[in-house]
Amino acid sequence: MKVLIHQTRETATECVAGLIVDRIARDPDVVLGLATGGTMEAVYDDLIARYRATGVSFAQAQSFNLDEYIGLTPDHPCSYWAYMREKFFHHVDFMPGRTHLPRGDAADPVVEAARYEAAIVAAGDIGLQLLGLGANGHIGFNEPTSSLSSLTRIKTLTQSTRDANARYFTSDDDVPRLAITMGIGTIMRAQDIVLLAFGANKSRIVAQMIEGPVSAACPASILQMHRNVTVVLDEEAASALALRDYYELVHPRVAAPAS
Ligand code: F6R
Repeated sequence: MKVLIHQTRETATECVAGLIVDRIARDPDVVLGLATGGTMEAVYDDLIARYRATGVSFAQAQSFNLDEYIGLTPDHPCSYWAYMREKFFHHVDFMPGRTHLPRGDAADPVVEAARYEAAIVAAGDIGLQLLGLGANGHIGFNEPTSSLSSLTRIKTLTQSTRDANARYFTSDDDVPRLAITMGIGTIMRAQDIVLLAFGANKSRIVAQMIEGPVSAACPASILQMHRNVTVVLDEEAASALALRDYYELVHPRVAAPAS
């Protein structure tokens, strides 16, 4: 696991956007695995800025998002379809039909989950998977105690995840209780994984993910078993790491820009 500790959220975000753009430059038809949530908003802003400034193109790439709420149509303003359209897809040159999310409004979510898993396999699996980290250790919506070899399926959201995401909904009761999520086994088939986490509220779970035992109690800890994972953190998210000096010895922090 490569652990990169940045002084600020801004430089951590630039680092992640840079890794994505570098991958597209090397591999224009890469299959990207994408995430939603607050952490990713700045990454998409940065990618849009790079698209405008440098012309980096997503036209040959494909994307598969991690998850979608069950019960929300793609045009529901709180759906992850809407999030991705508004915050990323509408601003860059992805080709219609090459961006994929599960359908939260599918008549049979079990069938939809199987269809989505099969579509990822048919695309050759994910080349570069972008992940955020839930404060309870989830990746995608794989909540604690998820099978570490699970495939795309329906998960019941924990109350803490519903509380964390309530800010996107008009009332707490509107937050869906179920989601379709890529499984942990699906995520682990990705060639490369980049996880981004910010803030003191993630520091405890970041330490468990990197330095704790591999356990379904902290689903993100399975990333210790993947060969190509880069974890990008800001100072606050890194603050509970016991081996922080070691990570900074291996990958020295980028110096703060002179003011
Ligand atoms: C979103 C997702 C989640 C989030 C995680 C962190 O598609 O899969 O795992 O990445 O809940 O969310 P934020 O960034 O809002 O703290």
